[in-house]
Amino acid sequence: MRKIGVLTSGGDSPGMNAAVMSVARSAALYNIPLIGIKRGYNGLLRKSSNIHDDLQELTLDLVLDIADEPGTYLRTARCDEFRQLEYREIAVRTLKAMEIDGLVVIGGDGSFNGAKCLCEMGIPCIGIPGTIDNDLGYTEMSLGFDTAVNVCVDAIRKIRATSRSHDRPAVVEVMGRHCGDIALTAAVSTGSEIVIVPEVPWTVESMALKLQSQLTKGNFRATIVMAEGCYEAMAPFNLYKFLTAHGKPCYPEEPMSAVRFASVMKRMCGGAEARATVIGYVQRGAEPTARDSAFAFEAGNLAVRLLRDGISNQVIGMQKGRVMYMPIMEALKCKKQFNTTLYDLVNSL
Ligand code: F6P
Repeated sequence: MRKIGVLTSGGDSPGMNAAVMSVARSAALYNIPLIGIKRGYNGLLRKSSNIHDDLQELTLDLVLDIADEPGTYLRTARCDEFRQLEYREIAVRTLKAMEIDGLVVIGGDGSFNGAKCLCEMGIPCIGIPGTIDNDLGYTEMSLGFDTAVNVCVDAIRKIRATSRSHDRPAVVEVMGRHCGDIALTAAVSTGSEIVIVPEVPWTVESMALKLQSQLTKGNFRATIVMAEGCYEAMAPFNLYKFLTAHGKPCYPEEPMSAVRFASVMKRMCGGAEARATVIGYVQRGAEPTARDSAFAFEAGNLAVRLLRDGISNQVIGMQKGRVMYMPIMEALKCKKQFNTTLYDLVNSL
């Protein structure tokens, strides 16, 4: 390896900086110069007039300060052009011109697809999973997931405290795109009474019944944790008809939201004052937990060692609690398993 490149791509996730720091430490250990590529694959397309805005030499000294910082020092972006061969050819030309012989890609499945394409074009790549969503089938955890869950747990505990004080239910929406892992883990960790996820079909009426049953038992501070993607699995519900029947105008083209859902629950559950909170981007912008940072540290080192030893086209992950690696192609084919047993347990009260 004459030089190694590293980039962060897709939505940022806590632990990305820790992984870059670890890559830099390991590159320094093995005497391999390291180039940071800015804004994901965009940096390789040389879009900026100033080269330092696209590519930056990462010395150990520069990187050591950023390990525990939230966000990503290298910046991140999604890069739609990278789906097209002509743009990937530009990237390969940039890598060759810079004498970068191997690339560490930190991101989610879209970023790994880009890495797979680069591998096919002769550029050795190693992927490190970086997404709060935890939606990659081959690994038990991805960087940022643990942090996002902890942010949600902290928020839900506070929400439950005020719900308890007021004897009223709460609806809390968390991130995760098409994956319910953040919602499920946060619900389990807080003793929330109901969880709704994209993996399990549901109806508004059945959730109202569950909530009503909690209220009837005297549990007025029940919490419903919803994954942001859960509406994908919601049976058709005519919100417009429902709301107009209750004398309120609304905009039918808007999807159901946590706020709307809370107001529907209120009407279906005898006026229970359900309140909604959308936790939002604080899940992504938080300082990484020890678990995420430790995983980042191991993964960063392994990535550099693999490239140094001539092993490429792999992604790093966690299986049975241990850091491992496997071919990108195989990893991308692994279907994500959702823990329905835990889901049933949360919703079984
Ligand atoms: O993939 C990470 C994630 O935070 C998802 O949980 C969320 O749906 C999405 O990114 C939000 O993306 P954007 O930053 O483009 O709003």
